[in-house]
Amino acid sequence: MNETDYIGITESQKETWATGDFNEIARQNVVMAETLVETVDPHPGQRVLDVACGSGTAALVAERRYCEVTGIDYVPGLIQRATARAQANRQPVDFRVGDAQDMPFPDDSFDVVLSVYGVQFAPDQERAARELLRVCKPGGKIGLMGPIPEGWSGDWFAAHAEYMPPPPGVHSPLRWGTDEGSEELLGPGIQSIENTRRTALQYYRSVNHAVEVFSTYFGPTIRALEELDPVDQESLLDDLNTIMSRYNRATDGTAIVENEYLQTAAIKA
Ligand SMILES: C[S@@+](CC[C@H](N)C(=O)[O-])C[C@H]1O[C@@H](n2cnc3c(N)ncnc32)[C@H](O)[C@@H]1O
Repeated sequence: MNETDYIGITESQKETWATGDFNEIARQNVVMAETLVETVDPHPGQRVLDVACGSGTAALVAERRYCEVTGIDYVPGLIQRATARAQANRQPVDFRVGDAQDMPFPDDSFDVVLSVYGVQFAPDQERAARELLRVCKPGGKIGLMGPIPEGWSGDWFAAHAEYMPPPPGVHSPLRWGTDEGSEELLGPGIQSIENTRRTALQYYRSVNHAVEVFSTYFGPTIRALEELDPVDQESLLDDLNTIMSRYNRATDGTAIVENEYLQTAAIKA
């Protein structure tokens, strides 16, 4: 039997996310983090965990409600960035390096567990889902936002996968972005789940600028480009340009790209 090498895949993905500077991409995630916190509605004093927090965007939003916030991500450079952001704004958030598939917290530690385009990337999805549920207290809330198989994110994933096929034996992160997938993954441990399709707009100076931002700062795009020969590099960049143009709603030469995603709000049993 061929066992999936989750440890090796996690290491390789960690290197990918450490490449570039996700904080630059995360400016587009602020509006999603605000919406998620508003939906899940943590109250002051509640313990909130932001899983795969990157540079801490959702954690910082939750802390503004005077919640007791922890953020975890496996890329040390992003945790440093998150810590620097929190310090600059004098926000007391406990940011830690760690893997979403094996979190360093006791059972039932948090009232609210959040993840914005984060936990979905863990290769061992069942294990990551069990961890979300384990660290959340009974009756606590789990709020997720992530990509879906359709629209901008679906096309974006498909373009990258065409040039850099995902490791065999691993489910796509897009599984979390479907009703069936999210219910399958969280189902065993929850009393309710509500999935809502939402749209966020991503703003760039132009379509070319949008592609340049991703090819300069977004780890998965940078890694794909590094692996390709010059002809395929051009062709991936062309495809990304086409996708940005397809979802661009601006008519003044700028780019306002429509990103439809799935919001999942669940309550632990
Ligand atoms: C698309 S970024 C989103 C970051 C952040 N949630 C935000 O909205 O700005 C994905 C993040 O997930 C983190 N990540 C992916 N897999 C992870 C894992 N298994 N454990 C911890 N962090 C992980 C990456 O390091 C990266 O910071």
